[in-house]
Amino acid sequence: MKNEKQVAGEKAAEFVKDGMVVGLGTGSTVLYTIKKIGERVKDGLSITAVATSIQTEQLAKECGIPLVNLADIDVIDVAIDGADEVDAAFNLIKGGGGALLREKIIASSAQEFIIVADSSKMVKQLGRFPIPVEVEIFGYPLTGKKIQSIGGVPKLRMNEGKPFVTDNGNYIFDCDFAAISSPEKLELNLNLIPGIVENGLFIGLVDLLITVDQKQEAVIQK
Ligand code: A5P
Repeated sequence: MKNEKQVAGEKAAEFVKDGMVVGLGTGSTVLYTIKKIGERVKDGLSITAVATSIQTEQLAKECGIPLVNLADIDVIDVAIDGADEVDAAFNLIKGGGGALLREKIIASSAQEFIIVADSSKMVKQLGRFPIPVEVEIFGYPLTGKKIQSIGGVPKLRMNEGKPFVTDNGNYIFDCDFAAISSPEKLELNLNLIPGIVENGLFIGLVDLLITVDQKQEAVIQK
């Protein structure tokens, strides 16, 4: 039996059509989308793709999906990605895998942004999952203090005893803001802090949500 991530992930591949430029997200749910797109490419689907991380770039290559540079394209027709939390208005927390910066650049540039999420990701209010905030290494402790001054509790993400470094050469603070009453305001306030490169709140970007119901079938919501 397929797990929820696979059901949601594979469903999204159906939205990819011949000739499209596709933004490929990062994570264990969109992995199934990428593999399915790869199968369709082997069967003759003609697309090009841009990747949101080095990890996804490698996976796309293994799956035989032709990649292009973001600098060489004018339009991204559709971007498909996972999420760490999704609220009822389809606002998101993303960046659990550390790819939030490239993910947000691609999501905000795509004509259509599709989220694939298993049922555990659906929440009434964002905030149980700490918001990943990508910060410039220069002065990062000062940036952390400024995050505290607006009500967050930042925790430097670590990897094997060292700070985790993103594909863009930055650090990540996972920031606990408890239940977030106004994600829009918080996104803006975070981006006003010097040293913050990007934050994992994705507000008003989602066009389509693919999740899974109790019968383990894909549900598409607009
Ligand atoms: C990557 O940085 C994240 O934004 C992922 O898209 C998010 O963490 C969802 O990942 P999973 O599909 O692995 O849960």
